[in-house]
Amino acid sequence: MTGQSNKDDLFLHDIEMGLGAWSWGDRSIWNYGRGYSDDDIEEAFHTSVSAGVNLVDTAEVYGSGLSEHLLGQFLKTTDQPILVATKFMPFPWRLSRKSLSNALHRSLDRLGLERVDLYQIHWPFPPYPVETWAEEIAGVANEGLTRAVGVSNFDKNQMQRAYSVLLSFNVPLTSNQVEYNLLNRRVEKNGVLDRCKELGIRLIAYSPLAKGLLTAKYDPQNPPPGVRGNGAVGKLKRIQSLIDLLKKIGKIHKDKTPAQVALNWIICKGALPIPGAKTGKQAAENSGAIGWRLTLEEINLLDEMSDDVSR
Ligand SMILES: NC(=O)c1ccc[n+]([C@@H]2O[C@H](COP(=O)([O-])OP(=O)(O)OC[C@H]3O[C@@H](n4cnc5c(N)ncnc54)[C@H](OP(=O)(O)O)[C@@H]3O)[C@@H](O)[C@H]2O)c1
Repeated sequence: MTGQSNKDDLFLHDIEMGLGAWSWGDRSIWNYGRGYSDDDIEEAFHTSVSAGVNLVDTAEVYGSGLSEHLLGQFLKTTDQPILVATKFMPFPWRLSRKSLSNALHRSLDRLGLERVDLYQIHWPFPPYPVETWAEEIAGVANEGLTRAVGVSNFDKNQMQRAYSVLLSFNVPLTSNQVEYNLLNRRVEKNGVLDRCKELGIRLIAYSPLAKGLLTAKYDPQNPPPGVRGNGAVGKLKRIQSLIDLLKKIGKIHKDKTPAQVALNWIICKGALPIPGAKTGKQAAENSGAIGWRLTLEEINLLDEMSDDVSR
């Protein structure tokens, strides 16, 4: 295997699901180094790619660059076309406009690439208005350092403003990456999802498994470890009826698991889920979320149950 083949025909809008790489190197939330190794992560990567999951989402801040570095190593071992998405963090102390371009060059070094497929502004942090970083990211797109530009955690108004600035540089806004799952449907209610569809912006759904809560492997007696456990017991008690419904619907679809049903629900909503996977086993299960669809009736049932458990 000699590195990636041509991926010019691959576009974000055609992709059903991606793979999230936050846990690759992150110790503070995900306990990297305890319970899963670099070999497990590499297996997660290859399992996903073999199953047709050909987008990986990372960021300069994940594992302080380790996530990008590991992804760069894995990319060298496959000839499959894979879209690479990474992000710029507008830390408040980044006062020079050049920091975006400098950060992208460092990301490219770690990834071993000449350009990425999607470069995203991670958060709309002050002190600069979103217009400032939109102008800078348009610049790196026009230099050819990224094929496409996205934002993340932008509300409807911020997204619209970034869209307009980018348009003035002839750069389309390709995506907005926001939290979206059966336990957090804010984007359905605050107009972000609808506006994305109107403007042709792909909504990338992060934490699509609610950081593991929707996989059914946790329960009130066995909450997630570390900081993810904070407040999780009460939540897990509230969502048991939703987990039961995910299991029931999964059975109808040739024994799909709760995770697969929860991810398919996002795909049915017209968004692109990027579940994180630490192991080949998790990646294999998650990739079973693509290539089929829930019925409208099942989507409605899940919507109702998600409303009930979120009250
Ligand atoms: N733009 C942003 O601000 C932002 C914020 C958050 C995330 N993201 C992106 O979105 C991606 C996904 O979000 P996320 O990692 O927060 O949460 P997630 O995808 O909802 O959950 C991922 C975690 O759930 C567990 N899991 C995944 N698949 C499983 C399976 N099949 N069976 C059992 N457990 C499974 C694993 O953790 P355990 O094994 O430890 O339970 C895994 O690390 C991230 O990797 C990142 O790329 C972006």
